[in-house]
Amino acid sequence: MPSNLKNDRLLKTIQRQPVDMTPVWMMRQAGRYLPEYRATREKAGDFVTLCQTPELACEVTLQPLERYPLDAAILFSDILTIPDAMGLGLKLIESVGPKFDKPITSVSDIKALPMPDPEDELAYVMDAVRLIHRELNGEVPLIGFAGSPWTLATYMIEGGSSKDFGKVKKMLYQEPESLHLLLDHVANAVGLYLNAQIHAGVQLVMIFDTWGGVLSTPAYHDFSLSYMKQILDNLEREHEGNRIPVILFTKGAGLWLEDIAETGCDVVGLDWCQNIGKVRNKIGNKVALQGNMDPAVLKAGPDAIRNEVKSILENYGDGPGHIFNLGHGITPDIDPEHAGIFIDAVHELSKPYHKNNQ
Ligand code: CP3
Repeated sequence: MPSNLKNDRLLKTIQRQPVDMTPVWMMRQAGRYLPEYRATREKAGDFVTLCQTPELACEVTLQPLERYPLDAAILFSDILTIPDAMGLGLKLIESVGPKFDKPITSVSDIKALPMPDPEDELAYVMDAVRLIHRELNGEVPLIGFAGSPWTLATYMIEGGSSKDFGKVKKMLYQEPESLHLLLDHVANAVGLYLNAQIHAGVQLVMIFDTWGGVLSTPAYHDFSLSYMKQILDNLEREHEGNRIPVILFTKGAGLWLEDIAETGCDVVGLDWCQNIGKVRNKIGNKVALQGNMDPAVLKAGPDAIRNEVKSILENYGDGPGHIFNLGHGITPDIDPEHAGIFIDAVHELSKPYHKNNQ
């Protein structure tokens, strides 16, 4: 285990080793609910420039850690950096979401996609990782991340966010070999990108499959899970003597959690629809679990937040193997004080569940 970390609760939990309390972090912990984030984004001018300026990306990564006793930092970036580096041209439009100037419309577009060099077109991400790693100074582990090939393909083909995924699903059913060509290319790009993040200093990685849950069961296996598995098979799982754990998170994957646990990942991320105790009974002997409070609970007051934390802890039960998180990203409308109440509640209320392990 990395003995150089001052707080290694999260990495110990992943190995299902004893800890004093349940580690916690929040998806999108560096984001618009924090006034200091909004100020830095203002300074950058726009979201894409914020991602592309290592000093500012580092600044926003550290902001939530200055406010709260979080057990991990997550690189501030976006999953859409890879398609941007392939030349699609990323913009973030206020209250619309991400948009690409040049979405993919044909198989010839797919064949023409370059393979980004992480230390060239994506050097700004690696520079941010190196800077954050240095600034963190071993306080907590740094999580690197990427999107799953399927989730990235949805944005690359739809040109942005989508309600029904009509274009990408049409390709899936009408010309599956074209989609496979794209997914294979993106999986290779993600593998290079994550390995470069590992070399630059992240201590674990997470793959976000935000849109895997919109697929049928066979399509999920063929078009999402198998490409995440391809990435896992190409990842360097050890760096400088330390194991690099992988968290896989498919939103809406309730039916497929056993298959996800079989991929060789270390942690399965759960959305809020799952009963974490039941999931632990099914796959808790193979992997650690991450999740899974409904992010909307943070809209409610302190008592509701504490009650919900309590019930998830109770549901998971005694012992390690649980990384507390939200079931999806924290939303911009949340009062930062409520996020603090949530994090403190996890630490405080989880201690009795780790008593036998101290
Ligand atoms: O968790 C963190 O703090 C790290 C930062 C992070 C961001 N995006 C910052 C961001 C991470 C891990 C992501 C991943 C990401 N990006 C995903 C997968 C995770 C998920 O939420 O399901 C997806 C699907 C994207 C694509 C994306 N980027 C969308 C759909 C949007 C618009 C979202 C919105 O609510 O407007 C973004 C922009 C984005 N990425 C923001 C942040 C903080 C908001 C940008 C802003 O206006 O400042």
